[in-house]
Amino acid sequence: MDIIRVKNADEGGQKAFEIIKNGIANGADTFGLATGSTPETMYSYMVSSDMDFSDKVSVNLDEYVGLDGNDEQSYRYFMNQHLFNHKPFKKTYVPDGKAEDLDAECKRYDDVIADNPIDIQVLGIGQNGHIGFNEPGTSFDATTHVVELTESTVNANKRYFDKVEDVPTRALTMGIRSIMQSKKIILMAFGKAKADAVKGMLEGEVTEDLPASVLQNHNDVAVIIDEEAASQL
Ligand code: F6R
Repeated sequence: MDIIRVKNADEGGQKAFEIIKNGIANGADTFGLATGSTPETMYSYMVSSDMDFSDKVSVNLDEYVGLDGNDEQSYRYFMNQHLFNHKPFKKTYVPDGKAEDLDAECKRYDDVIADNPIDIQVLGIGQNGHIGFNEPGTSFDATTHVVELTESTVNANKRYFDKVEDVPTRALTMGIRSIMQSKKIILMAFGKAKADAVKGMLEGEVTEDLPASVLQNHNDVAVIIDEEAASQL
């Protein structure tokens, strides 16, 4: 893994943006994208650039079950606000959290991923080491599936909601197998709360108990970490 140490989230977002830009110069046109606070600076750099993404495709990692794209807490809404409304893509995919048949939606999303192989996958990391919403214990062979979010994840995400009871407890997520099939992966981690997960991911054993550790088995990963996230290394 290529470990890129930066001062803070702003510098980290800039580095990630540069990797995206280089990737595009070398033919990348399908991007796996993440939500949450981590990639926000990268999206700002993308938005304020003069780049055109109108022939690019995005495939997002996950979505809360029960929220539709107009809900301000949905990941579709987040992506529209932070990126797509400013920089239109040719096609943007996010799992449908309102799908009536969630199993069928998982299958449909796996077909989307198969039809749009991901050139560059952007990831954050949960405090418990999750990637996407693949929580500890998820099989490395998993494809798109419905997850029950752990208490740790619900608590970490409650900052976006009025009260913790409003945080959905289920989500649809791309599986680890699909994430690992991306040609290149950029994982960003900023802040002290991520320090233990980052240590486990980089220095611990490869184990389903810490999903991000699987990235040790991928041959093209850039890990961008700020000083606080690197503080346990
Ligand atoms: C979001 C996602 C999650 C987040 C992770 C970190 O699409 O897949 O794995 O990347 O929960 O969240 P933040 O960036 O808010 O700390």
